[in-house]
Amino acid sequence: MYKFWIIGLVLAMLEDLCSSVKIQKITVPSVVVMDYNLNLSERPNLSAPEFLLDCDFDMEENESGLVIKWLLNNQAIYQWIPPRLPTALSLLKNRIRKNFTVSDDPMKKYRGLAVTKPMLNFSGNYTCSVQTFQSSDKKTSHLQIIVPESHFKLNYRTDFDSMVQIKCSAFNVYPEPKLSLNINNVELKSDVKLVKDSRDGLFDVKVVAKYPKNSLKSETIINCQLTIPDTNYTKIQETVYYEQEPTSSDPDSDEEADLVLSLETETGLLTNQHTKDHSASSSKPFTIVFFECYMILFFTIFVTKLC
Ligand SMILES: *[C@@H]1O[C@H](CO)[C@@H](O)[C@H](O)[C@H]1NC(C)=O
Ligand SMILES: *[C@@H]1O[C@H](CO)[C@@H](O)[C@H](O)[C@H]1NC(C)=O
Ligand SMILES: *[C@@H]1O[C@H](CO)[C@@H](O)[C@H](O)[C@H]1NC(C)=O
Ligand SMILES: *[C@@H]1O[C@H](CO)[C@@H](O)[C@H](O)[C@H]1NC(C)=O
Ligand SMILES: *[C@@H]1O[C@H](CO)[C@@H](O)[C@H](O)[C@H]1NC(C)=O
Ligand SMILES: *[C@@H]1O[C@H](CO)[C@@H](O)[C@H](O)[C@H]1NC(C)=O
Ligand SMILES: *[C@@H]1O[C@H](CO)[C@@H](O)[C@H](O)[C@H]1NC(C)=O
Repeated sequence: MYKFWIIGLVLAMLEDLCSSVKIQKITVPSVVVMDYNLNLSERPNLSAPEFLLDCDFDMEENESGLVIKWLLNNQAIYQWIPPRLPTALSLLKNRIRKNFTVSDDPMKKYRGLAVTKPMLNFSGNYTCSVQTFQSSDKKTSHLQIIVPESHFKLNYRTDFDSMVQIKCSAFNVYPEPKLSLNINNVELKSDVKLVKDSRDGLFDVKVVAKYPKNSLKSETIINCQLTIPDTNYTKIQETVYYEQEPTSSDPDSDEEADLVLSLETETGLLTNQHTKDHSASSSKPFTIVFFECYMILFFTIFVTKLC
């Protein structure tokens, strides 16, 4: 029995000697969503609200030489040596809220920070490192910046040698999303074509699948699922397949519409989206479109600005 007491005692002594600084909790949002700002009187651009990083640690009172650092992908972006003021480095230069404090404790005041105006390359592994002359500790957590798609379309055509061609595309997404086509909730694995395009760091993705017409019953539900890997971000577009679907659209004009969408500025997108939805709803009455909330907001503001 006494052996355990001795082991316990040794462990307690080691604890005192080796790990007197301890990070209790690191706070890093796992996802930060950027969006197009809706001010129509200036050229729209991407922006995101500020986010907070925090690093709650304990240290012994007799420790000295405290230095707190934040690193993004192992590169220093912030440093605080109390009692001085903190310094933002590299990416964070001019992008932290001045005088943001998490505590009144002079040794903890500036351990966290408020990051303003994040950009796409603010994604990555954030590490909080706390050091004293006697000991050190660090913890890491991942943050993913997301730009939701500006457009997400799903349609089908039946004018291909007894095949139904199903196409799903998403535009202006970050990071690279995955698209999957499903018929009656079974994923179409074969014959899926992936087309990637990347402008300004944003991605356009398109999948096309062909499916034998005679194995597709009328009123079959076809859906397309967009996901961003390692996040909870998921969107679904759904359409219903009808055997007698009129096939008026010619392939070229469809391709052109895609190109126009991906090249347009966001101001253009607004009006274009408007007319496109119109034509889509008249030529394809069965398409069920799930608008994202922000799109509705987009239009509301657009309309109120008009008045
Ligand atoms: C929109 O942009 C204009 C011009 O830059 C600016 O004067 C106005 O305050 C902005 N409005 C909002 C709500 O940000
Ligand atoms: C983007 O929009 C924000 C908010 O309206 C504005 O403060 C910023 O200056 C804009 N950036 C550019 C590059 O236009
Ligand atoms: C710091 O204080 C703890 C008790 O609070 C003591 O065990 C430790 O030896 C001291 N360390 C130094 C470096 O003085
Ligand atoms: C972040 O950490 C994970 C897990 O340790 C690693 O797989 C990934 O490559 C890191 N990302 C970057 C950008 O360093
Ligand atoms: C920010 O902190 C500095 C130093 O403590 C102080 O001089 C300055 O007035 C503060 N600014 C604001 C806006 O509170
Ligand atoms: C991050 O992205 C911005 C805007 O695209 C760019 O100006 C900056 O150089 C990038 N920084 C790093 C460290 O990659
Ligand atoms: C996904 O959502 C659940 C519940 O909202 C949350 O607990 C989890 O951390 C999220 N995962 C990611 C990777 O964001």
